[in-house]
Amino acid sequence: MSDAPEITPEAVEAAVDAALAAIDAAADTAELKAVRAAHSGEGSTLARLNARLRDVAPENKAAFGKLVGQARGRVNQAIAAREAALAEAETAAKLEAERIDITALPQRARVGARHPLTLLQDQVGDIFVGMGWEIAEGPELEHEWYNFDALNLDADHPARQMQDTFYVDPVARHLLLRTQTSPVQMRSMLTRELPIYIVSPGRVFRTDEFDATHLPVFSQFEGLVVDKGITMAHLRGTLDHVAQQLFGDQARTRMRANYFPFTEPSAEFDLWHPTFKGGARWIEWGGCGMVNPNVLRAAGIDPEVYSGFAFGMGFERTLMFRSDVQDMRDMAEGDVRFSEQFGMVV
Ligand code: DAH
Repeated sequence: MSDAPEITPEAVEAAVDAALAAIDAAADTAELKAVRAAHSGEGSTLARLNARLRDVAPENKAAFGKLVGQARGRVNQAIAAREAALAEAETAAKLEAERIDITALPQRARVGARHPLTLLQDQVGDIFVGMGWEIAEGPELEHEWYNFDALNLDADHPARQMQDTFYVDPVARHLLLRTQTSPVQMRSMLTRELPIYIVSPGRVFRTDEFDATHLPVFSQFEGLVVDKGITMAHLRGTLDHVAQQLFGDQARTRMRANYFPFTEPSAEFDLWHPTFKGGARWIEWGGCGMVNPNVLRAAGIDPEVYSGFAFGMGFERTLMFRSDVQDMRDMAEGDVRFSEQFGMVV
């Protein structure tokens, strides 16, 4: 301790000033730790001054003791205050650096939206499955026999002409893109057990214009029932039920006599609804009739025992007047902004 400074008020004050300056200058808690060792710990000037108390004359001991004690108290208080301030700043900086904005919207990659025709197909499928019917499928590339001959269309029927039908090369194979879902009727009659209650949704193809009310590729659903004792009343009831399921309780259907080779009698049917855009009115919806006995016979079914009804309508037309779509081309173009309006964004 021989090198310790003389204990004087000036020496104590100088040690305190040096300590306070160093405390102030400490930029972080690590630096402050070093400052504490140098200015308050063992070997610090104040500690060494304190050790000199034993050399002080007894009558001055109390006064000098108090002087050094207060000095050490001030330095320790300054260190504690600085330490708290630095720790708080460091915690704040750390929180800021690690900040997560839990209110931010998640970055979801938009995949697309379900197409309204797909949604409508699902809904139509549910309506028929709800009545206990089955869903039947047939190929889009079809044999001419199923698409025309089996449906009782003569060889010279106008629908067979090139201007309506996409034939597939080589023509001698008699393959075509089906012009209607009706070929699924014969496919079902040949492969299923009686009675038959089927609905068949799918795409069909015609050499039509691409305009607001025609598409060369569109979609239909076909219904077929073959059972004992089936009458036109069953057909009427079925069409009304489907209309009401799709359009609401007030929807009605009516039939107008017409000709289709595969049904006899045949009708076109219209849909009525009080709230259609433009007011209550009848809109042509599809074709239907009692299965022609010639068609039953071609499938090996005895028309004296069994009878049936069939109908077919287009999904695009149905969607047009159900959702007030003005232009069919919107359904073909695949713009997600169109599909999104139907509420099934994924
Ligand atoms: N296949 C006909 C068409 O595309 C619609 C049709 C009419 C279907 C009468 C039927 C039916 O099942 O019985 O125009």
